[in-house]
Amino acid sequence: MDQPTPQTLFSLAGRVALVTGASRGLGWGMARALAGAGARVVLNGRDPATLAARQAEIEAAGGLADVAAFDVRDRQAGDAAIDAIVARHGALDILVNNAAFGVPRDFFDISDDDWRLSLDVALDACFRLSQKAAAGMAARGWGRIVMISSVNARIGRATNTPYITAKAGLEGLTRGMAAELATRGITVNAIAPGYMATDINTVFRAQPGRYDWILNRTPMKRWGTADDLMGATLFLCSDASAFMTGQVMVIDGGMTVVI
Ligand SMILES: NC(=O)c1ccc[n+]([C@@H]2O[C@H](COP(=O)([O-])OP(=O)(O)OC[C@H]3O[C@@H](n4cnc5c(N)ncnc54)[C@H](OP(=O)(O)O)[C@@H]3O)[C@@H](O)[C@H]2O)c1
Repeated sequence: MDQPTPQTLFSLAGRVALVTGASRGLGWGMARALAGAGARVVLNGRDPATLAARQAEIEAAGGLADVAAFDVRDRQAGDAAIDAIVARHGALDILVNNAAFGVPRDFFDISDDDWRLSLDVALDACFRLSQKAAAGMAARGWGRIVMISSVNARIGRATNTPYITAKAGLEGLTRGMAAELATRGITVNAIAPGYMATDINTVFRAQPGRYDWILNRTPMKRWGTADDLMGATLFLCSDASAFMTGQVMVIDGGMTVVI
């Protein structure tokens, strides 16, 4: 094998990636990063029109893109989407499990439906899509699976218990899959972002004092942006991270290393 160079290590030319929840926010940022490194990026979300517009943006910038509109809670739809990607593009090499949302509730107000919905999107769907995608990756002997966790997997916040539980479970799923898939050429890692200014926390940010509370808890004194995840995404989805699996990269402006 040729000696790797920085260019070859981070290149994703010829790779096919699926990013769930890529219609906006962090998923859209990661999709742009992967396309910029040469991957063909399949954009997932639930609204075909939004995804088509995003596909056009990537193509206008010279990248390769496709869309797969489905609800990640739907096992059949997810399986069919992955089969279609492999049929159209020859393989699925990279899966970024990013789609999620929070159901903010006081603990005593959480219904069984709230609980199930949160865990279904943020944890169960990641298991189902990973299982389907990893089968093809294992057959081809190369794969990258990246879970988008949260600092809330390890530090709590009131009114957010189902989300915190899902993210803690996602980090367990990451380690379990990493252990089992390590000899198949597949790495499984997670990114745990801190507080990023996206739609998911628009309501939280708008509550009196919340925006500054997070700002003051963050040593870098700013909220994160989608661009802050681009480097870690390229690292974890490329050959640059070949000897790393089961880990969580925390990208939080220093929030979780200070009291
Ligand atoms: N923002 C933060 O501060 C922060 C911090 C830590 C971790 N995270 C994590 O980062 C990830 C992305 O968050 P974000 O801030 O970018 O959120 P966002 O701006 O609200 O975007 C969420 C994305 O998920 C998609 N989505 C939601 N439910 C879906 C479903 N059932 N099926 C398919 N797609 C679905 C949405 O697409 P459609 O609505 O178009 O279907 C959208 O593209 C999440 O896992 C989140 O937990 C975020």
